[in-house]
Amino acid sequence: MKDNIANRRKLDLVQKLRVGRVVLRQNGPRWVLHLSAYLVFSRAAEFFYGRMAVLRERRGLPGLNSRNVNREIWESWDWSAGGEEWTPTPEWKDALIRGVLEQHVKPGDTVLEIGPGAGRWTEHLIERAARVIGVDISAECVAICRRKFAERGHAEFHRTEGSDLSMIGDSTIDTIWSFDVFVHINTVDVKAYLGEIRRVLKPGGRAVIHHGGVGGSEGGWRSDLTAARMVELVGGAGLLMESQLIEWQAGSQTHRLVYGDRLSVILRPGKADAGGHDV
Ligand SMILES: C[S@@+](CC[C@H](N)C(=O)[O-])C[C@H]1O[C@@H](n2cnc3c(N)ncnc32)[C@H](O)[C@@H]1O
Repeated sequence: MKDNIANRRKLDLVQKLRVGRVVLRQNGPRWVLHLSAYLVFSRAAEFFYGRMAVLRERRGLPGLNSRNVNREIWESWDWSAGGEEWTPTPEWKDALIRGVLEQHVKPGDTVLEIGPGAGRWTEHLIERAARVIGVDISAECVAICRRKFAERGHAEFHRTEGSDLSMIGDSTIDTIWSFDVFVHINTVDVKAYLGEIRRVLKPGGRAVIHHGGVGGSEGGWRSDLTAARMVELVGGAGLLMESQLIEWQAGSQTHRLVYGDRLSVILRPGKADAGGHDV
């Protein structure tokens, strides 16, 4: 019965007291005591969440989305579920693979995955790509992926400091894939990553990036990034925002992103010669 706190304003105090009398009669004092505690504490939680956001913005604080916090969390995460704890249903995952991943990752591509975690998407990228490079801030994730994909000679995994792709050459990547990663990365690091993305993509190459759209206001441990700021950053990096999705289609089904997230498809403009260099 978790409610939307804004809805509570739809009843005035007298009406609330009337409802309260009926609820007390029907449920008894013990249950009503628990309900009262829930109503008070959930409102307090909402208040403090709002204050945290104000303080964060005013003082330019990184909140829970700095590189250091990300590294600490993902180094010690229990990866035994392989990241499938973020897969709501098998149909949802299948739809994302068919409706988005396979639309952009072409057979034979050289693919960069930023933040592979335990390889939830990597195993599908590996099946399609000629070469897969995974780059993660967590040494533990790099170790897991190296073990899991040890037999796949065309996959390699490296650690990043959190906004650099220094292990990758200029204009060498056809497609970049990153899901459930940039949602946790603050704007300052996203900006640095976009410069790197521009450098490593071949002209005509694309990055498909799932990221926050509302600066964390809808929860989900999202970073301070907004959809509008992402558009500015992409343009500022010399890239082109092709589309910014809030949902995707697979067959007759539509799937919507949560927490106000977006899925940006970003193009490095320009034509490539056979070797992937600007012409
Ligand atoms: C929620 S997990 C998602 C893992 C995987 N993409 C998936 O969907 O199953 C977030 C991943 O992003 C990685 N990560 C967080 N911040 C990062 C950064 N700045 N650069 C690269 N990887 C990062 C974490 O180490 C972790 O592997």
